[in-house]
Amino acid sequence: MRINSKTKIVGIFGYPIVHSLSPVLHNAAFAKLGLDFVYLSFPVKPEDLEDAVKAIKSLNMVGVNVTIPHKRKVLDYLDEVDHQARMMTSVNTILHQDGRLIGYNTDGEGFLESLRREGEFDPQGKRAFVIGAGGAACAISFALVKTGIKSIILTNRTPEKAKILLERLKKNVKNQCKFSLVDFSQRNSPGIMDKVDLFINATSVGMHAGDSVLINPDLFPSNTFVYDVVYNRKTELLKEAEERNLPSLGGVGMLVYQATLSFKIWTSRKAPIDEMRNILRAEFNEHKVKG
Ligand code: ATR
Repeated sequence: MRINSKTKIVGIFGYPIVHSLSPVLHNAAFAKLGLDFVYLSFPVKPEDLEDAVKAIKSLNMVGVNVTIPHKRKVLDYLDEVDHQARMMTSVNTILHQDGRLIGYNTDGEGFLESLRREGEFDPQGKRAFVIGAGGAACAISFALVKTGIKSIILTNRTPEKAKILLERLKKNVKNQCKFSLVDFSQRNSPGIMDKVDLFINATSVGMHAGDSVLINPDLFPSNTFVYDVVYNRKTELLKEAEERNLPSLGGVGMLVYQATLSFKIWTSRKAPIDEMRNILRAEFNEHKVKG
């Protein structure tokens, strides 16, 4: 595809942004479908965010992804924010449509697609344990409550952050999901894990070789599904799950599916998922095990 005067521009705003895989992923997808789009990387400093968002309009871009550290602040500069993103107070995708900027968040839906399609796990009526309270944990928790999940246990190293997430969930979610908070020091206490169907590591622990495993894997009931949002390597947690023959998934799928959902928002086309997945497969030593 040759760039020309009609080429549509999308991209990513973040700071720093050097490690983002999104440009490779999206440009390969555009090429595969023969779409006249280009995806560029924009290192946008926090003090320049407002100007950068205005530039989406002035440069007539189709939209952007938004990443750390702008996902929350960017809400201030949009014309409209969809329900899920507003509940989470976090936007990862902007669409420029009819002169308006609309914010979405595809992270949580990306997680669910991965869990359902690759993991063949339906969260409805199940009990989950989420460790972490950052952006990933927030997206996952809000996505899970939409599925009709029965209960979610939350824990985080910094208890205040878990409390804030819990309050936000309770405030926004009016369904039957039961939430509970476990003190981080008590996470391996007997009884807590007994009835868990789905365990999610939503922390960054596991990104580096030699990282500890935050949960005692001997406590997992048989058949617990173990999901680790870490995507750059096969984590120790996933190795423990594999040894115990538990169904498990690493975070590559979440990364791919959130990208396919952004792609759909901008192009109204179904993303070539196999193409995108192959790129990441080549990038990382992907872990995917069905026990
Ligand atoms: P993300 O957007 O990927 O979720 P984040 O918002 O920085 O990233 O959140 C990282 C999560 O990993 C947090 O829950 C963090 O715990 P704190 O809130 O206590 O910082 C968790 N985390 C990172 N390193 C950790 C460690 N060594 N032990 C336990 N939790 C850790």
